[in-house]
Parts: sequence; C-alpha cells; structure tokens
Amino acid sequence: MITEALFTIDFTNAAYIVAAVLFIVGLKQLGSPATARNGNRLSALAMLVAVVATIVGNDIASWEWILGGVIVGSGIGAISARRVQMTSMPQLVAVFNGFGGAASAVVAAAELIRLIDANEEIAENVSITIMASVIVGGVTLTGSFIAYGKLQGLVPTRPLLLPIRNVINVGLLITMIASTVWLVADPSITPFLIAAGTALALGILVVIPIGGADMPVVIALLNSYSGIAGAATGFVLDNNILIIAGSLVGASGLILTRIMTKAMNRSLANVMLGGFGVEDGAGASGGDDDRPVRSIQPDDAATILGYSQSVIFVPGYGLAVAQAQHQVRELADLLKDRGIRVSYAIHPVAGRMPGHMNVLLAEANVPYDELRDLDQINSEFQRTDVAVVIGANDVTNPSARTDKSSPIYGMPILNVDQAQSVIVMKRSMSSGFAGVQNELFFLDRTMMLFGDAKDSVEKITSEVKDL
Ligand code: TAP
Repeated sequence: MITEALFTIDFTNAAYIVAAVLFIVGLKQLGSPATARNGNRLSALAMLVAVVATIVGNDIASWEWILGGVIVGSGIGAISARRVQMTSMPQLVAVFNGFGGAASAVVAAAELIRLIDANEEIAENVSITIMASVIVGGVTLTGSFIAYGKLQGLVPTRPLLLPIRNVINVGLLITMIASTVWLVADPSITPFLIAAGTALALGILVVIPIGGADMPVVIALLNSYSGIAGAATGFVLDNNILIIAGSLVGASGLILTRIMTKAMNRSLANVMLGGFGVEDGAGASGGDDDRPVRSIQPDDAATILGYSQSVIFVPGYGLAVAQAQHQVRELADLLKDRGIRVSYAIHPVAGRMPGHMNVLLAEANVPYDELRDLDQINSEFQRTDVAVVIGANDVTNPSARTDKSSPIYGMPILNVDQAQSVIVMKRSMSSGFAGVQNELFFLDRTMMLFGDAKDSVEKITSEVKDL
C-alpha cells in the first residue's frame, strides 16, 4: 500500500521536492561567504528543475510564447548581470523585487480572467488568494520602483511627507478590503482593478516618506513581499513549488527585515510610518558646513599607519564606488608584514545592500576572520591606534547617539571616534546617504584625506613601502 503510494507520486511533484531541497540547501549555503557562490549555483539549478518540471508536467498551450519569454528574459538577465556595476546592484535587486511582485499580480489577473471567461464558480479561497497576489504584488511593484529611485538618486532620499498620509493610507487599506469582499461575493474584473489601483498607489505612498537611512529595512521588506505575493499566486494556481519558493523568499525577507530593524535600532512600525526625525526640523544637509577640519596628505597617513600597532579599516559605500577593495587588502597585507594588527569593522547597513562590504572584501580575498561585526569590534576601537574610514559616513556618525533630531538618531554606529586617531578617506565634505553632516570629521583626533579612495590607498601603500 505504502509502496504503491510512493510510486504514484507523479513526476512533477517529485521534481518539485528535489527543487525545494536544492532551494533550502542553497539558501543555507548563502549564509556564509565561504559557501555563498555554491549556494547561488544550487538555487539557480533548483529554479531550472522547477521550470522544466512545470513545463514538462503541464499541458502547454503555446511553446512559442514560453520559448520567446525564456529567450527575452534570459537575454535581459545575462546582459544586466554583465553590465550592471557592483555599485548599482542594490537598484537591480529593487527592480527584480518589483518585477517579482508584478509577475504575481499579472498571473493572478490571468487566472481570474480565465475563470470568469470559463464561467466557472470561483471558490472563496481562490478569490482571496487572487486578491492577496494582486495587492501584495502591486504594493511591491511601485514600492520597489520608488526604492530604486531613491537608491539611484532620482527620487529625493529625504522623507517626503504628505500632510494626511496616514489617513490616505488607511483609506486605501479599507478600499482593498472592501474590493476583496466584493470579489468574493460577486466575482468580476472591476473589484480586481480597484484593488490593483489602490495597491499601486499604496506602494508609492508607503515608501516615499521613508528616509534614506531606513531604506535597508524597506528593501528587505519589499523582498519579503515579492515572496509572499509569489506564494499567494502558488495557491491560486495550486502549484506546490511556487508556494514553497515564495514562502522561502517571504520568510527569509522577513528575517532580513528583522536583522535590518535591529541594525538600525528601529521598530518596523517606526520605519513604515516614515519621516523619522524630520518633523523636528532635522536632516541638516551636509556639504555646506564651513567649520574647519584637519586635512592630511597620503605620506602623512602612511607614516601614521606604518608606525602604529593596531589598525581597524572601516569600509563604507565609497569603497564600493572607488572599487578600492584590492588596494585596501594590499595595504593591509603590507601593514601586517610590519607586525601591525589589522581588522575590518563591518556595519550591517554599510553600503547599499545587506552584506555589501562582505561581498566586496571577499572579492579581494580578505580573510574572513579579519572581518568583525559591529558588536564584536565596537569595544576594540578605544584600544586601537588608527581607525581608517574608507568611504563610510553615516555608519560612523557620532551624532546618531545624541542628536534626537537626526534621521539616524538611535542607529548603532561604529565607535570610530573612540580610536586614538582617525583617518577619513573621502572626496569632499559632502554628506552620506542619510543627508546629514558627520560630526566625526570635526573631532580633534580626526584627519581628513581627500580624494578618490582607490587613489589615496594606492599612494599610501607606495609610501608605506618606502618607510
Ligand atoms: P554613506 O553614508 O552613503 O557615505 C558614503 C561616503 O562615501 C560618502 O560620504 C562619499 O563622500 C564617499 N565616497 C563616495 N565615492 C567615493 C570615492 N570614490 N572615494 C572615496 N569616498 C567616496 O555610506 P555608509 O557609511 O556605508 O552608510 C550607508 C548608508 O546607506 C546608510 O545611511 C544606510 O542606511 C544606507 N542604505 C544602506 C543599505 C544597506 S542594506 N546597506 C541600503 C540602502 C541604504 P564623498 O562624496 O565626499 O566622496
């Protein structure tokens, strides 16, 4: 009996189980830089198995359309993977999240139209999951494109606050619930279109008021939404692997959201209500501060570093822009050869995407055991001779501890200001992503080394060689 049952498991579901296991193992391997590449390969293989099983195991109406989609989609994927710069990867991820949400909404729409055209009775649970797909998918689509705009600098990164935004948002939520009730009671395309329109509007309205520094949380949450929309569509289509894959993305996105809110010391509600700090007149723009700073040249920096005993490198988004990771590792190797203790301080939201700094430094083969999390490194700064800030800004700003009006108030920062001396490499006095001036630059122990980080590190390295 049991054997018979086992053998009646059809090919498609057996392939889906293989794909699900590959997805889970792949995700697990993505958790460590050492295994992440393989995890990515396994997850891609899982997707291939899932797609092939779905195509082979179902009556395919039109191979031409599927082949056309595969060719166009793979072409765009391959070109963007090759062309998009590492610094633009977060924007690409935002766009992918958006398209994931859109795909779920479109598939739900197609299924609704098919059921209506076929005059089939639509079960309550199918109507509800169709609406869940379009609502979550719609919010994900427009929310992700606003996030893309903020990351790309097309939409201002400061919170944009509509006067009665919370009232409007509640109104939109009520409209969505009402249209869902309508669709369940009387299935037609009108309530579906109303829900789609309100979801698209809500996506814009919930992301627009979120300030630059809180974007990591939003991106993680939208990532989760794209998975939830996919899982809902899986229920609509009764497709097991879509439910599993969507749930994995949804759950891992939620875990990431939790990690990001913790890293920013925010509650999710606090981020989603938006406008953190601005009502108090904060968000003083950087750049136009004319207080004096102490500026040094690469040879001064080389002398300070070459004769120190311990150095902590603090990478930030500017390291990614300058692509200076290989040069930084070379300098670190040189310092280690001189008997100097070297480590790297990794802030969870440094850069523009989770794990951004880890990826960059791994690319330059920086040993993993030299990378230290915020919690591990923060007590080390006061025992460290030199902290070298390379293109990091917001994540080192001491006013996050004290200035209640700052949009980054409360965010745990790297205690760079506690090192014996601090060298900051950046090109100008302009502010970081959150748009606030960094008090670190004006401290007595801080020395500014202006210029492109790659250029500055190369010059320091050649000077250290001559010491
Ligand atoms: P930021 O605060 O954005 O500062 C980066 C600094 O790098 C800028 O001040 C810039 O100053 C400098 N820079 C740019 N190009 C450079 C180059 N070629 N050479 C040297 N310096 C260069 O970076 P951060 O400290 O890493 O903080 C990250 C920020 O992004 C946080 O506010 C965070 O909330 C936000 N964010 C993070 C994420 C994730 S998930 N990590 C996602 C979205 C947003 P100059 O122009 O003067 O050179």
